[in-house]
Amino acid sequence: KVLILDFGSQYTQLIARRVRELNIYCEIHPYHNIPNDLSSFKAVVLSGSPLSVRNEDAAHPDLSNIKGKLPLLGVCYGAQYLAHFGGGSVEPSNIREYGRAKLSMIKDSEPLFKEIPEGTQVWMSHSDTIAKLPENGVRLASTADVVNAAYKIEGEETYAIQFHPEVYHSTHGKQLLENFLVHMAGVEQSWTPAAFVDTTVAELKKKIGLDKVVLGLSGGVDSTVAAVLLHQAIGKNLYCIFVNNGLLRKNEFNSVLEQYKDMGLNVKGVDSSDRFLSALAGKSDPEEKRKAIGNTFIEVFDDEAHEITDVTYLAQGTIYPDVIESVSVNGPSVTIKSHHNVGGLPDFMKLKIVEPLRMLFKDEVRRVGAQLGIDKKLLGRHPFPGPGLAIRILGDITAEKVRILQEVDAIFIDGLRKWDLYDKVWQAGAILLPVQSVGVMGDERTYEKVVALRAVESTDGMTADWVNLPYEFLQETSNHIINRVKGVNRVVYDISSKPPATIEWE
Ligand code: XMP
Repeated sequence: KVLILDFGSQYTQLIARRVRELNIYCEIHPYHNIPNDLSSFKAVVLSGSPLSVRNEDAAHPDLSNIKGKLPLLGVCYGAQYLAHFGGGSVEPSNIREYGRAKLSMIKDSEPLFKEIPEGTQVWMSHSDTIAKLPENGVRLASTADVVNAAYKIEGEETYAIQFHPEVYHSTHGKQLLENFLVHMAGVEQSWTPAAFVDTTVAELKKKIGLDKVVLGLSGGVDSTVAAVLLHQAIGKNLYCIFVNNGLLRKNEFNSVLEQYKDMGLNVKGVDSSDRFLSALAGKSDPEEKRKAIGNTFIEVFDDEAHEITDVTYLAQGTIYPDVIESVSVNGPSVTIKSHHNVGGLPDFMKLKIVEPLRMLFKDEVRRVGAQLGIDKKLLGRHPFPGPGLAIRILGDITAEKVRILQEVDAIFIDGLRKWDLYDKVWQAGAILLPVQSVGVMGDERTYEKVVALRAVESTDGMTADWVNLPYEFLQETSNHIINRVKGVNRVVYDISSKPPATIEWE
C-alpha cells in the first residue's frame, strides 16, 4: 500500500482518489502523525499545503525513516519541502503561478515521464518557487515560468514535482502516478471491490466472533452497504434498526423496509414520527431543529438497542471523507451546518464501534455495493440528509407542512425518473418556503405557499452547481405540483451554485 502524508492541501483527498483509481490501496496520514511501522508501505507521496516552507512554523516532520529508504514523490509543497530542507532553496516567485502550464522534459528517457508527451498540460497552484535544487538534485522538467518543475535526487528513489498530478487538468497526471507507483516503485494493483469484500468479511468475522452488533439503517447507500457486508460476516447476529422520523420522503419508510427484507437483513422498523414532531414543535432555528432531531434519534435508537440483549458492537456507515476531516492538519473547520449523524452516540451506550467502510470513498462504496449484489436502484439513490425534510421546510415544522412537501417532492422525483433525468442529477429535492403568494385559480383569488425545486450536480457535495433541467420538464412538473398539491400555488427553481449558496436551504 501507499502512504500519503498530508500537509493540509485541499487536493490531498484527490491524490488518494487517483491512487485508488489505479486499484492501489492507500492511506492518508497527517504529517505530524507518521505511522511508526512503515513496513507495509511500498511508496510515499508528500501532499501540497496552503503554507509556505519559508514560514517559521512550516510543517517540518522528520522523514529520515522514509527519504532514501522508500520510493518518495513530493508534490508541490512536498517538492519544495524536499528542496528547502535538503540543501536547496525556495523563494517567493514574482508571479503567483496558478492554472495550466506546458511541461517540457529535459530527458525523455526518464521513467517518470514514460508515455507522457512533451508539452503535456500540467496544473500549477503555488506562490513559492524552487530556486535551487537540493543536494544531488537533477532537474527533469520545466515550464515557461517554473525552471524546476520536476526533479529527482540522484542515488535515491526520490522524485519531486511542482505541479499537481492529481487534478484532472493535469492531462497525464494519472499516468505519472502510475509510472511512479506501479512501474518504478512496484506497488501491486490489487485493490478491487471483490478483494475488499473478501478481506473485510474475513476481518469482521475474526473481530466480532459470536458477538452481537446493532446498526442504524437510513435507507441510504452507506448504511446499507455496511449492513450487507456485516450480514455476510456474522449473519443473524446483526440487528438493524430503521427509524422513521416522520421526515422521510413519501412512502419511503415502508418501501425501504420491504427492500431490506428482500435482502435478507434482520431489520426492525420503528415508527417514531410523533416523537420527532413533538420534539420539533415550535422550533424554527435550523441548528435547533437539527439538534432536536439528533437528540431524539439518539433516544429512540438507545431505547431500541436496549431491547436487544448482550449487544457488544455498534456498526456505523462512516466513510473515508468523514474520517479524514477529523484528522485534518488545519484543525476543525468552522461549523457551517452540524451534520447530526456524524456526531456519534452517547457514552452511556458503551458499545464498541465497528466501521467497515471507514477507508472507502463514496464511489468505492457504490462499487462494493454492486459487488455485494445490492440493487442498482438503491445504490444510485440521491443523498438525503439525516434531518430529512425538516431542513427543507424553512421555519417551524408541522405535520401538515410535512405532508405538503412530501407530495411536492414525490412529484418532482417521480418526474425526474420518468424523464430519465434522475441519474444525471447528483441530488434533488423540494423546499417549502415560509412565504405565501397571491394566485388565481378558476375565478378565485388564492393566497398559498411557494415551493422551490433544487437539483444539483456535484461529486462530493462540497461544491455543487444547479442543473440545467429542460424547460419542458420544469413546465410539466410545475403544472403537476400546482394542480395536485392543495396549498401550493407557486413553484420556483433554485439557480444558485455552492458556494456561495449551500445545497440545502437550512
Ligand atoms: P449543504 O447544504 O451543506 O449539504 O451544501 C451538503 C450535503 O450534505 C447533506 N446534508 C446533511 N446530511 N445531515 C446529513 O446527514 C445533515 O444535517 C445535513 N445537512 C446537509 C445535503 O443533503 C447535501 O448532500
